[in-house]
Amino acid sequence: MTALQTKGRGLPESPPAHQGQEQSAYVLSAIGIAKTYTHGVWPRRRYSKVLRGADLALRRGEVVGLVGENGSGKSTLMKILVGSVDRDAGTVEMSGSLGYCPQMPILYERLTCDEHFQLFGKAYGMGDAKIDSARDDIYEVLGFGDWRESRVEELSGGTRAKLNLGLALLPDPDLLLLDEPYAGFDWDTYQRFWQLTEDRRDAGRSLLIISHFITDAERFDRIYDLVGGRTVPR
Ligand SMILES: Nc1ncnc2c1ncn2[C@@H]1O[C@H](COP(=O)(O)OP(=O)(O)OP(=O)(O)O)[C@@H](O)[C@H]1O
Ligand SMILES: [Mg+2]
Repeated sequence: MTALQTKGRGLPESPPAHQGQEQSAYVLSAIGIAKTYTHGVWPRRRYSKVLRGADLALRRGEVVGLVGENGSGKSTLMKILVGSVDRDAGTVEMSGSLGYCPQMPILYERLTCDEHFQLFGKAYGMGDAKIDSARDDIYEVLGFGDWRESRVEELSGGTRAKLNLGLALLPDPDLLLLDEPYAGFDWDTYQRFWQLTEDRRDAGRSLLIISHFITDAERFDRIYDLVGGRTVPR
């Protein structure tokens, strides 16, 4: 396991949710994550303390939910795990490859779905044959192959969400971090999403899934509630 960054300024404010276990027993382990955002400039500067020592861990082959109300800090915590937002305190350790599906799709309006897979596949260091077969599997599983040659600007919100998820799935990562992946899905796609999740779990892959509500709690191995800046295991 590689320590991504270790900024740990001081001890976590609460005992880690996975206290008593070696941090290296997990594919992902975050301990004591703290984050305060600063708004405005002096003398009108304001601070919002979003995370106050959040702990989170995933084992191989686990599907874990992260739930909390709007603005509770779920996306902030996931961005810290991915490394796109700096944390003020805490440690993050991760092993294996990582896929991330952001809450707001980051797509290029003028490129087609096929062109996105090609672009991202190259960035992941995949060969053409591997990109083609992984891309076709994703079209099949999520059911949007009819849109393969359409530009993003022509896609519905739900199809954009499928492409956003598909790009995270493309390199078949060991660990998938998904920020509200099914918010825009219709019922059929929602069912396909859970089939895909179960298949990944069976293959020993791990998934962390953010949702602001969970209707199918039994689909998760474990759930954390994010409350008051801390994660509370259910
Ligand atoms: N870049 C930023 N600068 C300042 N404040 C921010 C920034 N990003 C998020 N925040 C604030 O941090 C808090 C947590 O935001 P975050 O997006 O992490 O919440 P969330 O739990 O993902 O919410 P939602 O369910 O609406 O997606 C909110 O009050 C938000 O306004
Ligand atoms: Mg969010």
